[in-house]
Amino acid sequence: MQRFYITTPIYYVNAKPHLGHAYTTTVADSLNRFHKLMGEETYFLTGTDEHGDKIVQAAESNGQTPQEYVDVISKLFRDLWPNMNISNNDFIRTTEPRHKAVVQQILQKVYDAGDIYFGEYGGHYCFGCERFYTEKELVDGLCPDHLTKPEYIAEKNYFFKMSKYRDWLLDHINKHPDFIRPERYRNEVVSLLESGELEDLCISRPKSRLTWGIELPFDADYVTYVWFDALINYVAALGWPDGEKFKKFWPAANHMVAKDILKPHAIFWPTMLKAAGIEPYQHLNVHGYWLVEDTKMSKSIGNVVEPLAMKDAYGLDAFRYFLLREMSFGQDSSFSEKALVGRLNADLANDLGNLFNRTLSMTHKYFGGKIPRPDVEDVVDAEIKKIGQDAMQSFQDFFTDLKFSRALEGLWELVRGLNKYIDETAPWALFKEKNTGRLSTVIYVLLENMRKIAVHLWPVMPEASERMLEQLGITFDPEKINLPKELDVWGLLESDAMVAETSNLFPRVDLPEEKAETKAEAKSAKKDKKAAKKDDKTAEPVPEIDFEDFQKLDLRVGTVLEADKHPEADRLLLVKVDTGDKEPRQVVAGLADYFQPDDLVGRQVVVVANLKPRKLRKQLSQGMVLAVKTDNGMELLTPTGAVPPGSKVS
Ligand code: ME8
Ligand code: MG
Repeated sequence: MQRFYITTPIYYVNAKPHLGHAYTTTVADSLNRFHKLMGEETYFLTGTDEHGDKIVQAAESNGQTPQEYVDVISKLFRDLWPNMNISNNDFIRTTEPRHKAVVQQILQKVYDAGDIYFGEYGGHYCFGCERFYTEKELVDGLCPDHLTKPEYIAEKNYFFKMSKYRDWLLDHINKHPDFIRPERYRNEVVSLLESGELEDLCISRPKSRLTWGIELPFDADYVTYVWFDALINYVAALGWPDGEKFKKFWPAANHMVAKDILKPHAIFWPTMLKAAGIEPYQHLNVHGYWLVEDTKMSKSIGNVVEPLAMKDAYGLDAFRYFLLREMSFGQDSSFSEKALVGRLNADLANDLGNLFNRTLSMTHKYFGGKIPRPDVEDVVDAEIKKIGQDAMQSFQDFFTDLKFSRALEGLWELVRGLNKYIDETAPWALFKEKNTGRLSTVIYVLLENMRKIAVHLWPVMPEASERMLEQLGITFDPEKINLPKELDVWGLLESDAMVAETSNLFPRVDLPEEKAETKAEAKSAKKDKKAAKKDDKTAEPVPEIDFEDFQKLDLRVGTVLEADKHPEADRLLLVKVDTGDKEPRQVVAGLADYFQPDDLVGRQVVVVANLKPRKLRKQLSQGMVLAVKTDNGMELLTPTGAVPPGSKVS
C-alpha cells in the first residue's frame, strides 16, 4: 500500500492561532483525507514550537514562566484543531521528552561524524527571527522581515558544516524537480544555492544568553538553535531511528509550509538529514501568504482573522471550501468576508445546494423518496456521465498536484452540468407525460452523480459530505471509498433506498450590514477599532468597572531623571522616574522606537505606580508609563502645567 506522510509547520506559541495557521493545517488535513480516499495509508502530524528567545520574551511580557506560558498557548492550538475538523494523528511539542531525546541523538550523531565544529562568529542578530543576518541581507541596516535594527553579537558557537552539502543538495534538487514545489520556490532555492557558497549554520546559543532550549549533548554551556531543534520534530514524532512509524512513513514525507520558512525547510533540513544519514523527504510544498485587504495580517494593525469567528459566522465547511477554492496554491491571496460570502452564495448555496434541494424534492414528489431503478440510457445521459468522468479526473489530478482551486473548479463542471441536465431533461414534463421509465433514469443519473460529488468533497468539506451522503441514504465509510475507482464504476447507489426530503446544507447568507460599507467607511471604522484596541489584546469592548476599582490604581505624575537603552532589547528603554518616593524608580517602557532616551529627560509623565514589579528581559520594571499610540508614533500623557513629582492623578 502506498504511504503518505503529511506535516504542517509546528507553530510558534508566541501568538494565538489565526487564519494563516488555519490555512496550512486545513490544506494538510484535506490532503490527508484525499490520499486516504485514494487508497493510501496516511499519517498526519502537527504541533507547536516552544523553545527560543521569542517565547521567553512573550512569556515575560505575560508575567509567566516559559513553561506556564507555552502550556497555555500550545493548548490553544491543540484545542482549535478538532473544532476545525482537523484529522491529525499526532500533535508534537518540542518541550516533550520524546522530541528532546531525538534532537540530542541527532546532534551527537552529526557531531561524531565531524560535521559540527566550534568557532567564533560575529553577526547581526534579529531577535524576532532568532537568526543572524549578513550585512548583505539587511535592508538599510534593518532586518528585512521585522524592519528593526538587529544587534551585533560576537560570540563562540557551534556550527554545522552546511556548506559541505551544497553540491549534493543542488544535484538532488535537479534530479528531483518536484522536491520543492510549486516551481517558483524551487527556482528561488536553486538560484540561492547557485549564487555562491552556502554558509555554515550556527546551531548553538550560549546559555549565558538563552537557557530555554535543548542542551547540546556535547557541551552543557550551550542550547540548540531553535531551527535545528524544531525541524527534527518531523522525524522525532515518527520515532526515529527505529520506530515502526518511521520505517513506514519516512521518506514518504510531504511538508506543508508558507514561503516565510522556505529556507530552513529547503536548505537547512535536507542538509541536516543528509548529515544524520537520513533520506531526504519527498516533497516540500510551499504556499503564499494570506493578506487582509492587501496588507499583511498583524496584531499591531488589528486585522487578524480568527478561524473560529469565521466558522461561527459562515459554517466550518463553507470556510474550509473558501480557503481551498480562493487561494492559488503558491501565490498570495487576499482574504475578505465579502469574497467568502460571494463564494458561499454562488458555489455552495446556488450551484451545489440547489442541485441537492431540487433533486431530493423531485425524488419525493415523483417516487415517494425512493431511489428509482434506472431504465435504458439516452445520449444525454452518456454525455453527462462523460462530463462527470472528466470532472472527477481533473479533480483528482489537480488535487494530487496541490492545485486545489482548479480541482474544485473542475468538479463544479459536473455540479453545473447536472443543473443544466435538469433543465434540459425537464423531469416535471416527463412526470406529466407519465414517462416513468425515462423519469427513473434521469433521477437516478442525478442521484448517482451527486453521490460521486459528495464523495469527492469529503477531503474539503468532511461534515457536509457526510451529510450529503446521508441524505442519499448512505452511511459514510472511508474504508469503502476509492476515488480512482469512482471514475469507472456506475450504479453504487442502491435503488429503493430512501433519500432525505430536503437538503438545505448551505443556506444563503447576507454580508453583515457593516461589512457592506464603502471602502472608505470600512477603513475609518477600522481605524477607530484600531485606536480602541491599543493596549487591549482583544477586540471586545472594555467592560465597565466600579469606582472602587478605579481607586485601586495609584496614578502619579513623575519626572524623568534618566533614560537609557535597554541593554538587551531594541524596543525598550530603562526610564528612571521621580514619583515622589524616597528613591527614583525604574520603569521599563516600550518607547525606544519613538523617543531618543535624552528627549525624555526632564519630562513629566503619568505612571501607574502600584503595578506589580516585574522583570522585562532581566530588568526590573516598577510601574508603567502611560502613552497613546497614534498612527505614526507615540504621545506621552503629561499634565498641562508642571506639578510636583508624585502628585496623584485623580
Ligand atoms: O515559523 N498566510 O512558526 P510560525 C499563510 N515555528 N500562512 C501563514 C500566514 C499567512 N499570513 N501566517 C502564518 C514558524 N502562516 C516555526 C516553524 S517548522 C519546523 C517551525 C502559517 O508560527 C504558514 O504555514 O511563525 C507559515 O509557514 C507558518 O504559519 C509560520 O508559523
Ligand atoms: Mg512566523
